[in-house]
Amino acid sequence: MWGGRFAEGPAAVMREINASIPFDKRMWRQDIAGSKAHVAMLAKQGIVAAEDAAAIDAGLDAVAADYEANGVAEDLALEDIHMQTEAKLAALIGPVAGRLHTARSRNDQVATDFRLWVRDAIDQVLGALAALTDALLTRAEAHADAVMPGFTHLQSAQPVTLGHHLMAYVEMIARDVSRFRDARARMNLCPLGSAALAGTSFPLDRAMTAAALGFDGPTRNSLDAVSDRDFALDYLTAATQTALHLSRLAEEFVLWASQPFGFVALSDQWSTGSSIMPQKRNPDAAELVRGHAGRIMGCMTSLMVTMKGLPLAYSKDMQDDKPPVFECHDLLGLSIAAMTGMIASATFRTDRMRGLAESGFATATDFADWLVREAGLPFREAHHVTGRAVKRAEELGVRLDELPYAEFEAIDPRVNQSLYDVLSVDASVASRTSFGGTAPANVRAAIAAARESLR
Ligand code: ARG
Repeated sequence: MWGGRFAEGPAAVMREINASIPFDKRMWRQDIAGSKAHVAMLAKQGIVAAEDAAAIDAGLDAVAADYEANGVAEDLALEDIHMQTEAKLAALIGPVAGRLHTARSRNDQVATDFRLWVRDAIDQVLGALAALTDALLTRAEAHADAVMPGFTHLQSAQPVTLGHHLMAYVEMIARDVSRFRDARARMNLCPLGSAALAGTSFPLDRAMTAAALGFDGPTRNSLDAVSDRDFALDYLTAATQTALHLSRLAEEFVLWASQPFGFVALSDQWSTGSSIMPQKRNPDAAELVRGHAGRIMGCMTSLMVTMKGLPLAYSKDMQDDKPPVFECHDLLGLSIAAMTGMIASATFRTDRMRGLAESGFATATDFADWLVREAGLPFREAHHVTGRAVKRAEELGVRLDELPYAEFEAIDPRVNQSLYDVLSVDASVASRTSFGGTAPANVRAAIAAARESLR
């Protein structure tokens, strides 16, 4: 491509370190689309003759058909997908192919292709997150009043419902969705026409190419347009946040599937066995989702570090932008799909959850609140009285609601029999009616609202 200036070809290692075709061939569809939009605009502006543009456009379709049928060859001598496509075009239609690159540089070309690719990636993630949300909502609905222990410090704290717990993840995913949507809206400007860095003297219609590629308009500064990779970082940071949420859910599945918890039985499809221990059902998929989150974070860090010291405008370091984004996208896609499958097919052991909720003195706060409400004690004093009741129940080896009335009376004479009304886990969750609380009625309302907002 630049033979005019050079007497010798590159060293073999130069060729290898320089080539991006092994990975950027994933962008061939975007590259073809960008070229078709560019040449149509060149023709409309009278920069390239209509018949030449038509030959180029048909040639690009033929290249695309060939890629579709045979894949993209990894010819390192052709460096990247842009040069690969142009060489193929030239082989098909002859020297007229050389008119395609008028008023264009690989710098604005790659910036455009990569934006298009990331935009498609975001659309795929949004679809996958909708399916995950749907799976969570379905399970939350079925278990809107299934009582389980809620934890702080991983110690039994207060009873909640499984539906409420799953809906916490629906909230997280909804924020992730909004981050991806923000990223998509922000990145949706077209760099094409910025050329190498300074713009071009050709009379382009940048609005036309932008519109043809589904962008909201052209980017406003040519230097920024060819050197900005914020859009990829926005994608990676949104992906990292999502992966982090998936990792917390995965961690809970690992914990819940353990024998001491026994809160969930993963389906056969989402478990693995052991080559030595016949009894095993391991939650490998959940562990890998947890593990992948670390790698996704690594992808984000990788591109941040690539970008942090780069002067304007384009430097070849920026070619390293694609591998972490592609890797992240593959890992995230697998992670979301695996979590969706695990959630949809898991069996929740609600009897086991209830049993643990009932045994951990989880309604102690309810008794303290009752002392405040019914017996007029200051909360701090009620806390102390309740602590003594828990201690006594522990000594006797009974649950709080099994502690005989005489014991309560001995601890504090201001009690009456109605205290037992608040000690059951069902009464406890039903009483948490504050907005956003775990009462089954609230959970059902939250599910309905979430379904409505998905429409
Ligand atoms: N393969 C290059 C990349 O991915 C394309 C841009 C090349 N531009 C250049 N000035 N060498 O970044």
